[in-house]
Amino acid sequence: SNPSLLILPGDGIGPEVMAEVRKIIGWFDARRGLKFDVSEDLVGGAAYDVHGTPLTDETMAKAQEADAVLLGAVGGPKYDSLDFSVKPERGLLRLRKEMDLYANLRPAQCFDALADFSSLKKDIVAGLDIMIVRELTSGIYFGEPRGIIKEGNERVGINTQRYTESEIARVARSAFELARKRGNKVCSMEKANVMESGILWRDVVQEVHDAEYPDVELSHMYADAGAMQLVRAPKQFDVIVTDNLFGDLLSDAAAMLTGSLGMLPSASLGAPMANGRPKALYEPVHGSAPDIAGQGKANPCACILSFAMALRYSFDQGEEATRLERAVEMVLADGVRTADLMQAGDTAPASTSDMGDAVIAALDAS
Ligand code: NAI
Ligand code: MG
Repeated sequence: SNPSLLILPGDGIGPEVMAEVRKIIGWFDARRGLKFDVSEDLVGGAAYDVHGTPLTDETMAKAQEADAVLLGAVGGPKYDSLDFSVKPERGLLRLRKEMDLYANLRPAQCFDALADFSSLKKDIVAGLDIMIVRELTSGIYFGEPRGIIKEGNERVGINTQRYTESEIARVARSAFELARKRGNKVCSMEKANVMESGILWRDVVQEVHDAEYPDVELSHMYADAGAMQLVRAPKQFDVIVTDNLFGDLLSDAAAMLTGSLGMLPSASLGAPMANGRPKALYEPVHGSAPDIAGQGKANPCACILSFAMALRYSFDQGEEATRLERAVEMVLADGVRTADLMQAGDTAPASTSDMGDAVIAALDAS
């Protein structure tokens, strides 16, 4: 049977950008013979409007069984006053939690045509293609004990960085698996010089490497030095694997290497399923953009590139993923720009569907 893909467009610009992805899925079916069992369901405010909950049990069960889930965005002002238990975000949080998605993938990919949008000099970022893998379900954001306690006559704020061997090993495996589908290089970042959890992190990553992934090139770097290298010479990296806290900071910094929010894809991966594929949720980094929703202005590229990630990391279609990324690159090089990518002197912006159609035309030419 065909691999299954569950599409959850969500709210605001979510359905608008997802409509463009559906065109692209149709193209891969008709032109490249790539068949998926695609199903579509509601999430977020859209699900609340119909079912009174941002994610039904049925949708949750479908997500657990799908080979990959592709989500648009959730939320919007219409739902801001709802009780926390049924807020749109809760739908997304439930997906992440119940699928146990412990590896958060944030690529920083810089298309030459957009290098001017980077916060850095063009030659430092042009052609950049790196992937930050952030541990997402453990570490200092979750560790116990935590709290604000009274000590003598002052308050003390406490958080605990705690990692088990198995938590480190599983995210390390995710990183090594990804590296094999990319540049075959992993740099692990921690602070083994000052943190016990960092010493364990370095040991376990090295052990997993030596036992299971000796073919992948592994290096270790202190996370502060890594932050420096990330802005000094980011192209030296392929896959970076790091803990929840360092990954939060490093992935936000890396996002600014590439420019617009409308271009940034992401993925969250969990444990391998019976068929060997990891549980996977792909989604653009951006939200539902209520300020431009319903106007045909949204840039669909972040969602399109999220689908490209699904092709590469869930469906073993690396060549087709590259084909799609090249098509996006070609369109940008031709000067097609949605409003978020406009610069002084640019003429009328392309609409969401103009951009999708341009990507299809570029695929036709590939
Ligand atoms: P946002 O990412 O939705 O928008 C921030 C700014 O970027 C806006 O000016 C928007 O127009 C622009 N923008 C975002 N995506 C764009 C695209 N594809 N093309 C062109 N311009 C784009 O973040 P914001 O405004 O903080 O949140 C809006 C709503 O989205 C809130 O309800 C928030 O909770 C939700 N949200 C949902 C996320 C998700 O579903 N994963 C993530 C972040 C926010
Ligand atoms: Mg952050």
